[in-house]
Parts: sequence; structure tokens; C-alpha cells
Amino acid sequence: MPAEDIRYHHLMAGANRAGYLLVGGQSSRMGRDKALLPIEGGQTFLEHISSEIQKSAGSVKLIGDYKKYSLPGYRDVMPGNGPLGGVFTALHYTPAKWNLIVACDMPFVTAELFESLFAAAEAGDFDCIAAGHDGQIEPLCAVYHNRCAEAALSAIERKSLKMHDFVSGLKTFVQHIEKLPALANINTPADLAAANGSAKRSDTSHYIEFRNVYKTFDQPVLVDVSFHVDPGETLAIIGRSGVGKSVTLGHIMGFIKPTRGRVFVSYLDITDMEEAELRKIRKKVTMVFQSGALFDSLTVGENILFSLELRDDYNEQNKEDVVDGLLQMVDLAEYKDHYPSDLSTGYKRAVAIARALAAQPECILYDEPTTMVDPIMSDHIGNLMLRLKNQLRLTSVVVTHDLDLMYKVADRVVFLSEGRSIFFGPLADLEKSTDPNIQEFLAMDRV
Ligand SMILES: Nc1ncnc2c1ncn2[C@@H]1O[C@H](COP(=O)(O)OP(=O)(O)OP(=O)(O)O)[C@@H](O)[C@H]1O
Ligand SMILES: [Mg+2]
Repeated sequence: MPAEDIRYHHLMAGANRAGYLLVGGQSSRMGRDKALLPIEGGQTFLEHISSEIQKSAGSVKLIGDYKKYSLPGYRDVMPGNGPLGGVFTALHYTPAKWNLIVACDMPFVTAELFESLFAAAEAGDFDCIAAGHDGQIEPLCAVYHNRCAEAALSAIERKSLKMHDFVSGLKTFVQHIEKLPALANINTPADLAAANGSAKRSDTSHYIEFRNVYKTFDQPVLVDVSFHVDPGETLAIIGRSGVGKSVTLGHIMGFIKPTRGRVFVSYLDITDMEEAELRKIRKKVTMVFQSGALFDSLTVGENILFSLELRDDYNEQNKEDVVDGLLQMVDLAEYKDHYPSDLSTGYKRAVAIARALAAQPECILYDEPTTMVDPIMSDHIGNLMLRLKNQLRLTSVVVTHDLDLMYKVADRVVFLSEGRSIFFGPLADLEKSTDPNIQEFLAMDRV
């Protein structure tokens, strides 16, 4: 049943239903309050779960330290008894017969799931309807009859605090849920990454995708930016200075996290990836920095060799051959023993490109490869990029002010203006755009 088709039975059920979200305790493993962890779209666990509870139960109250959050609730009247104390608190205060009680570490629960628990409760003669999956039962995603307050209190008095023992002493019906990750528990940062990943992993067919990305530093920089890059394609990102082009590349490398929205790279959702996973992505996607970032104390050849050092699939002779091959590829064979300080900016860029290629990436990102370079060298770099695209089928993203370069290499273009992608489409369509910002930008180049 799709979410929009859920008929909110609470409207008919009157005060028969109520919803409670347990927000007790900090998680030592997450190092912070679980309720405030982010899920998709920048919402927190708390916001997502409470809105899903509200939809199905018609109300939501927090149990625990509710004053920290801006929602109504109750303090745990049996503190120190774990979640069972919270369950008792909810059932003690509730005016409703059926009470949905959910823990705040299951960020993928849905109103649809809750609806099925209430429906089973209202149809049968049970004390408790708990969600279950794969033989596991989840007592903290369950609907309880308010008469269970008594049993909760007596379990607490007996110091029998395990939730599983509690529900197995009740007349409990297990509602089996087919779809994961609806019940995924989040206890560690890795759980969060895996759960967000399994929820989203297959959700893009593009090599790179920005999906409704927002980024705010002190000011909003990116506002609802969406675009994608398919394998083997070259995307140009253009726009005035300071509009967020380099920030966009930073998101693709995972150096910068979006405030909202999703970023996919190498078909994977990298938005919430941990550093260790991002490092794997950065082996596939390399960046040629605006500055070139060469080591001044190493020769051109040594600079390239440096990025091969960690590869154990090459012996020393192989490595020399690869360095020579790459230098040839960028037309710099004769500069192998020179130092970067001997080279012009344009040649340094070419060395930086060769060094990026040494990692044998699937995708290469260029930040302003032709700025501060004379026209002949610009042309040379453009030709080199075109050659790499055609010979190596490298996927690329190029940030540039240089419209000649854009016309030479781009398949598709993103035009950023005031943080928004006001154009995204094939190069050929850019000139047809009637947007005055775009017309002005293109005209500037003609004078
Ligand atoms: N780490 C940061 N913290 C705060 N603000 C930042 C940060 N990085 C970038 N910005 C701001 O974001 C805006 C966009 O910067 P960005 O470097 O992406 O622009 P750009 O389009 O690449 O410009 P240029 O064409 O001059 O290279 C700028 O206002 C910049 O000051
Ligand atoms: Mg920049």
C-alpha cells in the first residue's frame, strides 16, 4: 500500500490509538544522541519516526528526556529500568486503548508498517502486536493494549527488564514484515551507513548523480542542485566565480557533505559514507586540483612515480614504463627529469593530469584546468582531455570558465546561478536557452 493511500484510520478510531516514541539515553557507540542522527533528506531519526507515528496513530508523544526536543512528552516514571520503564510510562499515562511504542533507533519504519500493526490489534484479541522479521521479534516496534501497564509494572518490580521476556509473557501476535530495512536497528555509525546504503544503494543508474543537493555554509551556496553524469561522458560545470563550482566537486570527492539531498558516485550513495569507504571511492575518482599540487622537490617523473608507489601489482621496471607511457600520453616525455619549478603553469597541469591517471581512475575531475594558462597551452590541455575521453573512455567532470574548453569536451552542461542549477542538459541545448543569465554568460565570451 503506497504511503499516500494510507487512510488515516485514527480519524475514525478516535482516541483508540496513541503513539509514543522512546527517546531515552545517549548511545555511547554512536557518540551522540541517536534521535538527532540524520537520515535521507536531512531529517533526523526523531523527525522521521515521529511524523510516521503521527500519521498512523494520530498523535505522538516522546517518552524520556522530551524537553530536549521540541515535542510534547512524559518523563520516564521508572528511570533506570531501560526501555521497559518507558513502555510502562506510556501505558500508565495513555488515554488510548491501543498504543504504538517505537524506539528511536529504527529510522526506516513507516506509517504503513504501523498501520498494519494497529489493524491487527483492532481486528484480534491480543495484548500486543509486535513487528517481526526473519524469526526475530521487535518489541520496540509494537502496539500494546493499555491493560499491559500492570504486567509492565510487575516485571519492573521483579527486575525482569528484558523486553523479549516481557512480550513473551503477554498474549502477543507477531506481525511479520517482509520488507527490510524497515526494522533495521542502528547502533553504530557502520550500521547507519549500511542501512542508509541498503535503502538507497541501487537507487541510481548514473555514474554520478546529485539529487536535490543543498549546501549551506554561513550562507546558502548550493540550492536544490540536481544533475547526473553517465559513464564515459564529460560534464562541464560552468557559472560565475563563487557560485559553488569547486564546492560541487568537493561533494563528489566526499570532502564536503550536503546539508540536504543525496550524492551518488560510482553508482553508490556516498552521502553518509564513512572515511574508510570514501577512500575506496577516491581510488576510482581522482581530482586534478586547481593548483596542480605537485611536489616541488621531486622531478616530473618522480611526481608521477609517487602515485604508483603504493601499487603492488607493478615491479620497478613496470612502474618506470607506466611513468614513461603517461608522460608520452600528455606530451611531456622530454620533461621527465625537470622539476616543476622549471615548467609553465600549463605544463604543470599536464603533469598533474598524468599523475591523476597513474591511479587508473574510472573518473577524473578537473577544477579549472585552463585558467592562468596561455591560449596555446589551453588548447593543448583541451585536446589532451578529449583524447583521454576518447581513448580511455574516462568519465569526467570539468569545472571551467573557459567556454572554448566547454565546447571542445562537454557532452552535457550544468549552469549554476545563485546556487541553483538553472540549466542541465546537452551542450547543444545550452545556446537555445533563453535564460538571460545564460545568454549573458555566453555572450561575454564572444566579445
Ligand atoms: N569550507 C567553506 N566554508 C565556508 N564557505 C565556503 C567554503 N567553501 C566554499 N565556501 C563558499 O562557497 C561559495 C562557493 O565557493 P566555490 O569555491 O565553490 O566557488 P567557485 O564557483 O568554484 O568559484 P571560482 O570560479 O572563483 O573558483 C563561496 O562564497 C565560498 O566562499
Ligand atoms: Mg572554484
